[in-house]
Amino acid sequence: MTQKLYIKTHGCQMNEYDSARMADLLGDSHGYELVNAPEEADLLLLNTCSIREKAQEKVFHQLGRWRALKERNPNLKIGVGGCVASQEGERIFQRAPQVDLVFGPQTLHRLPQMIDAAKGAAVVDEAAQRLPLVDVTFPEIEKFDRLPDPRAEGPAAFVSVMEGCSRYCSFCVVPYTRGEEVSRPVADVMREVIALAAQGVREVNLLGQNVNAYRGAIDGDHADLAELIHYVADVRGIERIRFTTSHPLEFTDTLVEAFAGIPQLVDHLHLPVQSGSDRILARMKRGHSADDYRARIAALRQVRPNISLSSDFIVGFPGETDEDFEQTMQLIADIGFDTSFSFIYSARPGTPAAALEDAVSEVEKKARLARLQALLRTQADAIASAMVGTRQRLLVTGPSRKDPAMLSGRTENNRVCNFSTDALAGDLPDFVDVEITEALPNSLRGRLL
Ligand code: SAH
Ligand code: F3S
Repeated sequence: MTQKLYIKTHGCQMNEYDSARMADLLGDSHGYELVNAPEEADLLLLNTCSIREKAQEKVFHQLGRWRALKERNPNLKIGVGGCVASQEGERIFQRAPQVDLVFGPQTLHRLPQMIDAAKGAAVVDEAAQRLPLVDVTFPEIEKFDRLPDPRAEGPAAFVSVMEGCSRYCSFCVVPYTRGEEVSRPVADVMREVIALAAQGVREVNLLGQNVNAYRGAIDGDHADLAELIHYVADVRGIERIRFTTSHPLEFTDTLVEAFAGIPQLVDHLHLPVQSGSDRILARMKRGHSADDYRARIAALRQVRPNISLSSDFIVGFPGETDEDFEQTMQLIADIGFDTSFSFIYSARPGTPAAALEDAVSEVEKKARLARLQALLRTQADAIASAMVGTRQRLLVTGPSRKDPAMLSGRTENNRVCNFSTDALAGDLPDFVDVEITEALPNSLRGRLL
């Protein structure tokens, strides 16, 4: 009988990518079939996130629900991966004894052996016997050498090009949970992109925690992200390229030039700034000022006047005054950000910022977040409204979730646009051109051209 696997993914796109690779890997090694209901599975994997306290709490709630399933089915195995696994290691077993194995973001390729060991399989190979049921080490880039080529799901795909982060922003756990920056060699990334294109992928999103720090080996030398993007743009079939997430410091002139010279790079960039106050940016150890950020955006807009920009913001960082916060609001107004992410600061154990005195009340932080999100919302709505009447190219993603009689696609600035299929004859195209007819709160409507 085929064994069934259920994976629950928390957190970032990198985790989504890793979860998809786990499914590919266990499909190959043990014939595991992915199911949508945990009740049906023989193996439950939780891919966790520890970026904020709330994300971390979700882990033990989830494991609590799965304990009931294990009581009914003692053969069920439960594995915990991702950043909470990396941070907590063996302590996971103490709080959640129903867990069988713990693996980190860099050791998920060892899952097949760990599962054999957890099952106490009669014939375990020697390597498996030596493997502990906790493995949250950082074996450099070995992971990618051990994973099968990915299977495409639809026309857009993630491709992880580097792991970890060496920037050590004072609030952030990523360098501790994912380790320092390690890049995949160019040839390795290209093999994956070519395999995806052959399966019909038309848009790739190059992923890394600090993706513009990419330095991939090539012919005894190294390529930066801009060079990698050039190679990816040459792959037949790849018509759209995105990359996430960048740090403003390494958003270099070569990347601006890439936007100027590579039409496949979409008219959208996610470039987190966190705060508009120089004092707070320094305390965050971001390494740049608000005006440095403005200057980078100005350079980019010289070559891409219509580019849509999004960012991440942290509100209520320790010591943030009203004035600091107003400077963030000013930066948002100056740049005119599109749909963005914003969070109340969450102290993470082991990070330098956790030791800073935090005098701002929770009520005040919530009020600031609400104001900031209202401003972002107003700006994003204005951008959507301004798209009405314009011509947009959509990557067709499939039937609309709202209305199955319609199709759905994505604009370059990553908005969902639904359109009627009446005028479509024959096979579903990869891309269509539409005129935007309406801007709804969370999507657009378009008319096929
Ligand atoms: N490079 C990463 C960014 C880190 S996590 C990426 O790939 O997305 C995403 C965002 O979470 C950060 O940009 C930051 O805005 C937010 N974040 C990180 N640590 C945080 C903390 N301790 N409290 C609140 N928000 C945080
Ligand atoms: Fe975190 Fe800063 Fe790196 S936000 S992922 S340490 S760039």
